[in-house]
Amino acid sequence: VEPVRVGLMGLGTVGTGVVRLVEGHQEDLRNQTGKEIVIEKILVQDIHKERNVPVDQGKLTDRADEILQDPRIDVVVEVMGGIEPTRELLRQAVASGKHVVTANKDLMALHGAELLSAAAEKNCDLYYEASVAGGIPILRALVEGFSSDRITKMIGIVNGTTNYILTEMSRNGADFEEVLAQAQALGYAEANPASDVEGLDAGRKMAILATLGFHAQVSLEDVTVEGITQVTLEDIRFAEQLGYVMKLVGLAQRDNGEIEVSVEPALLPKHHPLASVDGVYNAVYVHGEAVGETMFYGPGAGELPTATAVVSDLVTVVKNMGLGVNGRGTVAPYQVKQVKGPEK
Ligand code: NAP
Ligand code: HSE
Repeated sequence: VEPVRVGLMGLGTVGTGVVRLVEGHQEDLRNQTGKEIVIEKILVQDIHKERNVPVDQGKLTDRADEILQDPRIDVVVEVMGGIEPTRELLRQAVASGKHVVTANKDLMALHGAELLSAAAEKNCDLYYEASVAGGIPILRALVEGFSSDRITKMIGIVNGTTNYILTEMSRNGADFEEVLAQAQALGYAEANPASDVEGLDAGRKMAILATLGFHAQVSLEDVTVEGITQVTLEDIRFAEQLGYVMKLVGLAQRDNGEIEVSVEPALLPKHHPLASVDGVYNAVYVHGEAVGETMFYGPGAGELPTATAVVSDLVTVVKNMGLGVNGRGTVAPYQVKQVKGPEK
């Protein structure tokens, strides 16, 4: 049986986890899919850099065309980040019939609709579970688990870096800059951590959640965003004295067809279920008209939790290949239509 060949784009925090999982869980993956999954080529910026996982040096390349123009490569797994050249590379990948798995919320929040329809036209899969809330399979839950319901509200702690910072400030009185540096060293932060601390990363994730949960196109421009750069230790301590916990909270709700999405620092009563979500953990509360209240909780960033989501998407792609159903199912899980954003 021919293996499924993967072109991995990126070998940083998440890419390293992907290599570890694909190799470490090979037998389980084969049992589920009936195929061996082989990482054929790995795109990086610097092929001479020391890596955190043993890889065959011959697999490393700094030329994307070695993946895009290799007809044996079935799936591109994109964990390099950024908008360009990534958008163009993924566009080329689907144009040449390759399925795509990505962890890139920046790209999906901005150009998701365009990439999803390009993929659907070519009967290619495009999955992006890792783009929101790391190891929590929240996109699957929204698209598949709640397909029979009408979701009215989602409240999320969806950025691990800022939650880690706020938790460390609250627990240990840690200095903002020092604890941000720790989050970067742990691989939680974005390449440009301003995205995390200014709330944009959480805003992009809330836009993706609202798009999938409400079946309507919501982009970052529709989201009111405020980060945690103005939050001081004094604010946190004062809130605690009054029985509250400071969190960066994303809110998406719809009422009478109007959708509102925001991200801002908020004071939660200590007994609120989201108040005890600490460190790099994320949580998403989902309210559906029929199901009522549900809550999803787990690690929101980091090497292996994020790789779990990426490799699970890869398994879905390989199963779809076996069934001949790529490009259907959850590839285009919403209909694109205009929605009214918040008043500016
Ligand atoms: P990272 O550690 O900075 O790794 C990025 C990798 O991509 C590096 O291997 C880098 O090569 C390569 N790369 C970057 N730009 C490139 C270019 N133009 N051409 C070729 N290779 C390039 O990033 P990460 O933390 O793994 O994040 C990757 C993606 O996953 C991002 O979209 C991020 O938002 C998303 N994500 C991350 C997490 C997390 O916990 N870290 C969680 C969920 C989603 P070199 O190694 O040679 O520099
Ligand atoms: N920088 C992101 C975070 C990575 O801290 O949540 C996971 O998407």
